[in-house]
Amino acid sequence: MTEHVTTHQAEEDARNEDILIYLNGRIVPKAQAVVSVYDSGFMLRDGVWEGLRLYDGKWSFLDDHMDRLFEAAKAIDLDIGMDRNGVISALLETQKANGMTTDAHARMMVTRGVKSRPFQHPSLSRQGPTFTIIMEHSRPKIPRPIRLATVPHMRGLPMTQDPKLNSHSKLNCILACIAAEKAGADEALMLDVHGFVNTTNACNFFIVKKEQVWTSTGDYCMNGITRQKVIDLCRANGIPVFERNFSLVDTYSADEAFLTGTFGAQTPVGEIDGRQIGTGQMGPMTERLRALYKDLVARS
Ligand SMILES: Cc1ncc(COP(=O)(O)O)c(C=O)c1O
Repeated sequence: MTEHVTTHQAEEDARNEDILIYLNGRIVPKAQAVVSVYDSGFMLRDGVWEGLRLYDGKWSFLDDHMDRLFEAAKAIDLDIGMDRNGVISALLETQKANGMTTDAHARMMVTRGVKSRPFQHPSLSRQGPTFTIIMEHSRPKIPRPIRLATVPHMRGLPMTQDPKLNSHSKLNCILACIAAEKAGADEALMLDVHGFVNTTNACNFFIVKKEQVWTSTGDYCMNGITRQKVIDLCRANGIPVFERNFSLVDTYSADEAFLTGTFGAQTPVGEIDGRQIGTGQMGPMTERLRALYKDLVARS
């Protein structure tokens, strides 16, 4: 079996060495795209981000991504320093500068900016936000379905750090991922505070049981845009879909399992905690939903 796989694995692309990065209104070569050690993002992970994909000249579900970015910024009381059109212009400008037309991935990041002193208080960030866009050539490619391991790290309650917030602080997810790797898996399957199966460290999680598609209630996971599109596609195509609580017992006996995220769309899961899921390969429902999603992307 292939050594190690991640859901964010892409084909090697030498062009990514020469990409241009958006940094606070300037487009600069990768080597010059640096921020201060006083930046709130570096120092405290105080910021929010979005991951977007370019397919056939169009940024998929751009409105949904803009909604989520501005909602997250408002939640952490961060003034992005641009309106929605300004952010979209920055994205298109970066795309143009890089001459990208399809199969690109953008990570748009905004932090509270450079601090005057190296301490936590947000009022120490006085110079305005740091806004960056990393845009890479990217064709997701994994050699086999993903292997997951359940880990002790949970998806928390909204009053600690709401898991819906696409914040830069990902330590809980990173620790989950490390624990899964140490257990011999690729990535982590995380439970909610009640012990129900919730999500992975970087993607939303679905199972298929007897032609039905199940995912968590959505209470403790990222409000994934791809997750919602899959739910909507099921509804529009007569596929029974349920946002519900379910346990590992339900999960191990699933016919199929898959992950969703902007980067990989729908990624098959072959094994969870050493149990093979279905045939261990991509199942027919996952394949169908992948085709429906591809079609939706082309139409939208
Ligand atoms: C923890 C987590 N779950 C799920 C997702 C997938 O969300 P989307 O489908 O909007 O890319 C992300 C992506 O940002 C994430 O960070």
